[in-house]
Amino acid sequence: MFHTFVKNNSAMKDDVPFIFGRVPATNNFTDREKETKHLKQNFKGLINTIIISPRRWGKSSLVDRVAENFLSAKSPVKVCRVDLFNVRTEEDFYHTLAQEVLRATASKWEEMMANAKTFLSALLPQIGFSPDGQSEITFGIAWEKLRRQADTILDLAETIAAKKKIKIVVCIDEFQSVGEFKNSLAVQRKLRSHWQRHQQVAYCLYGSKRHMMLDIFTNSSMPFYKFGDLMFLEKIDTPHWVSFIQQRFKDTRKQISERDARNIAVLADNHPYYVQQLAQQVWLRTKLRCAPDIVMDAYESLVRQLSLLFTNTTETLTITQVNFLKALLTGETQFSAQNTLQQYRLGTSANILRIKKTLEKREIIDIVGSSISFQDPIYRYWLQKYYFAL
Ligand SMILES: Nc1ncnc2c1ncn2[C@@H]1O[C@H](COP(=O)(O)OP(=O)(O)O)[C@@H](O)[C@H]1O
Ligand SMILES: [Mg+2]
Repeated sequence: MFHTFVKNNSAMKDDVPFIFGRVPATNNFTDREKETKHLKQNFKGLINTIIISPRRWGKSSLVDRVAENFLSAKSPVKVCRVDLFNVRTEEDFYHTLAQEVLRATASKWEEMMANAKTFLSALLPQIGFSPDGQSEITFGIAWEKLRRQADTILDLAETIAAKKKIKIVVCIDEFQSVGEFKNSLAVQRKLRSHWQRHQQVAYCLYGSKRHMMLDIFTNSSMPFYKFGDLMFLEKIDTPHWVSFIQQRFKDTRKQISERDARNIAVLADNHPYYVQQLAQQVWLRTKLRCAPDIVMDAYESLVRQLSLLFTNTTETLTITQVNFLKALLTGETQFSAQNTLQQYRLGTSANILRIKKTLEKREIIDIVGSSISFQDPIYRYWLQKYYFAL
């Protein structure tokens, strides 16, 4: 009834190694030893942490893996996870936060209800619980009234922690959503002013839109500036993937050579989601022993599967944006140079900054310092081979 971590997949799915699109089970998780240790220490020491990486590089997986360490009833630290993926307003945010904090600090539904009554008494009797025994909470109150209780909700974790003599780590996924709320700056100021006073609660805030996350946390004029320990999650190195892939094949009584395993990682550009996806396709096509052409077939079939999506994405871009991607693909770095502008029909040099910003915002390219790269390695390949046929 309560949200628990997905430890194991269903019996049938357990037979297929390599999981993507959701948090991998223990035996589908690799590397991240340093990061796991670091994050675990931060949780124990109640140190605020911010994790940034492009999407699908493994932030949620990492946090969930660390959170599992604190699951036991005896653990003095409780971990509460809040996902802002679908949260678009301040009001929604308070709902979700209150709900997840209550959920994480109770072991039974009755306890959760009792806590709601005790700690959110000002909101009663409008707090409702879904009758099917699920732990959904609804606040049946007008926004104006809820807003007046915002302070209570923002301090809820601290209040409960102090009362119950526990510690809580509140993990908030897709935190950059807050940056898109109406009056976002005022909201951020309010969150920070509450949270920085908390003694028994720490926050782990993570999200994918790098430019937005950086703006929220590293811009000295922003409320969350220097809020916590900043962690940039990298991709996972090829050697880790090679041993991981080989091991998973072996576990399931199949074989793959080091060379083929390496090829999977390289083709997927070490991108965690894609390595798992490609590895799964290869595994499914392998009877007993993998071979190089199985890997290539699986790769091309994956590209074909994705091509509709890529076509759609590309159709939403302007001609100059597409031209820019072509220039990027051919290894161009001096986009504002006269001959580049002309050769790729990029318009004026003033255009370039705007193009870069838009493509970054759309999560198509990633800009780190002066280096620009495609976020999606398979999109890059598809553009090169099928779209531009370079
Ligand atoms: N440490 C890891 N080991 C193996 N696979 C991973 C790992 N981290 C991520 N993945 C793969 O990548 C996918 C996306 O990871 P996820 O944690 O959802 O990324 P993010 O939260 O950064 O968007 C996962 O479903 C899994 O297949
Ligand atoms: Mg995630």
